[in-house]
Amino acid sequence: MMSETETHQEVVKVWIEPGCIVCDSCETDSPLVFEVLEETCIVRSEATKTDFTKPLTPSIIVAAEGCPVDVIKFETIEVAGPEPWAGQEETEAGVLAAAGAAAGGGKPAVAIPEGPPNPKWAGLLSTSHTSGSRSAGGPEVRVRPAAKATVELIGSALPPDASPDVLAAAMVGAGYIRPKSSVAERIRQDALTRRSAVAVVAGIGAVMATAWGLLVATAAVWAGALQSFMVPRLTKEPPSSFRAGKVSDYPSNGVYTQFKGSNQVWIIRKDSKIFALSTICTHLGCIPNWWPNDNKFKCPCHGSGFYMSGVNFEGPAPRPLERLKISLDGEFILVDKSTKFRSELGQWGLPGSELLV
Ligand code: FES
Repeated sequence: MMSETETHQEVVKVWIEPGCIVCDSCETDSPLVFEVLEETCIVRSEATKTDFTKPLTPSIIVAAEGCPVDVIKFETIEVAGPEPWAGQEETEAGVLAAAGAAAGGGKPAVAIPEGPPNPKWAGLLSTSHTSGSRSAGGPEVRVRPAAKATVELIGSALPPDASPDVLAAAMVGAGYIRPKSSVAERIRQDALTRRSAVAVVAGIGAVMATAWGLLVATAAVWAGALQSFMVPRLTKEPPSSFRAGKVSDYPSNGVYTQFKGSNQVWIIRKDSKIFALSTICTHLGCIPNWWPNDNKFKCPCHGSGFYMSGVNFEGPAPRPLERLKISLDGEFILVDKSTKFRSELGQWGLPGSELLV
């Protein structure tokens, strides 16, 4: 029974503001009103008529409420009386049959399988709240959970020769039937979204691992360089002392050259003395050669000449060759290159400068 004070809202104008992201949600919710194109969504030309939008009020509200970027706007008027689409939860077959009859074609109803509850629709039913005519400044609209477009109104809004498919779409658009494909499509989209998120996380993880690897490698290189800089390099030098055989190895006067290459030392036997001469030229450090036929050392670099005693007598060498410390270590002759004796300093003849045998 109609209450004298009862009123309801009906959509008389619907439009789309810029910013559509082409998500298809509105066309799914209200296909008679909205059409999703390549780059945006539009309101179908039929939906510009007030008589067309009124009976589709529930689906328009659902579409507007479900728009993720909130670009669907609509305007409502307050109409006296209860909602004409309220209390229309008859059986699905009955509604479709009635819709067919209302379309005037007497066509058989199309059997549309009812899918699981649309999450968005279920949420709307549970909260029962939308804000109608928000952009138009219109009054807030309360949508009752049972809000559905009446079959008669839907049928009357369609052309007389509307096909069963059109009637079925009208039922979907009015929110009376929710086909399985819509929900399945959303589930697929959800799965794709999750897979994309996993792929993005995996990609970020790979990039972070690579960055850390490069950082560790760079730190290792710098640590090695720092260690080389901080820790002094130690070079091994040959020992300064060496055994030069026994006295018996130098039986006669002369220059013995067997240690020239290995120790840069000549061993000289001169009567009862044995001494060690450095092979380093006192001019600029070249290595002279012993010329036995000339009985002298001759430097190949600048021609300096030295007697067998080591005293210089020709060329640019400024002073005699240096003698090295010589001693006996048991039966062996020991030469210590770290201790030198210079003739010009009066050091020849000091202990260690020669070995008396
Ligand atoms: Fe021996 Fe110059 S280096 S003469």
